[in-house]
Amino acid sequence: MSIQLKNFLADDELNKNQLLALIELAINIKNNPADYSQVLAGKSVAMIFEKPSLRTHVSFDMGINKLGGHALYLGQQNGKLGERERVSDYAKNLSRFSDAIVARVFSHDSIQGLAEHASVPVINALCDIYHPCQALADFVTLTELFTKDKVADLSKVKLAYIGDGNNVSNSLMIMAAILGVDFTLVTPVGYEAETSIIEKTQALAKASGAKLNITSDINNIGVQDVIYTDTWISMGDEDASKKAAVLAHFAPYQVNHALMENTEASVVMHCQPAHLEEEITTELFDSDMAVVFQQAENRMWAQNAVLVSLFT
Ligand code: NVA
Repeated sequence: MSIQLKNFLADDELNKNQLLALIELAINIKNNPADYSQVLAGKSVAMIFEKPSLRTHVSFDMGINKLGGHALYLGQQNGKLGERERVSDYAKNLSRFSDAIVARVFSHDSIQGLAEHASVPVINALCDIYHPCQALADFVTLTELFTKDKVADLSKVKLAYIGDGNNVSNSLMIMAAILGVDFTLVTPVGYEAETSIIEKTQALAKASGAKLNITSDINNIGVQDVIYTDTWISMGDEDASKKAAVLAHFAPYQVNHALMENTEASVVMHCQPAHLEEEITTELFDSDMAVVFQQAENRMWAQNAVLVSLFT
């Protein structure tokens, strides 16, 4: 099967068939890892991390190992991308040694610069605008959860994201719109998604038939199957002097048992790291409704599906 990916940079660069094929491939790799154990044999992947990471670092490193390849972690020792060396030179150098580049960066411009100048595929492992690996893993998880009698029908799933309009909500919302999943975005005033992302998502939802509800009114969330949340303060946005005000502003948007009851949702998702008692209560995070570790594991299988499709 060829999914025909050149890079994996942003969710909106994929169509519905490619996404469904990636989800199916991820589940197949998860169920039959031995069948894929040599796909990256003799290949090396350079992994640039401008920001901290637990799940992304470990899931790429161990996932690449499971495909028979070798992963090299490049932290901050070479300075910020584009400062000690141009992004283009970074891309050209790494392309001489490695077969793919994974990058977690501050700015989406760096992802685009790497892709433009690298002669090997580039995978976005989070930037300021997108987190496509997370969203793909989340739809793998939703497919697992909502498959009945071997039929997965994501078009019946109602998914709501509550919290900061950020990279995670952008990717989730765009992928939902492509896949035809009804999506509600609830963000406090001042923390909405960028207009360009909303417009892009509206166009995709119109094409797929997904219902899209974007609001700042927490009481306008409606009935849902799944509630998703993420940190209220993303990496790079930390400002200690503003933290108390941000927490107070977001407090009504906390995901807790009362919200689950009001929305009739039975599943709660979080990309982690979770800030317990901020965006989600400890009690809910630790409850049977939370599928957060399934999401974390699926990062690896989803990313491996991307890697396999880049090399086969
Ligand atoms: N929105 C969060 C996601 C962390 C995985 C951040 O960018 O820090």
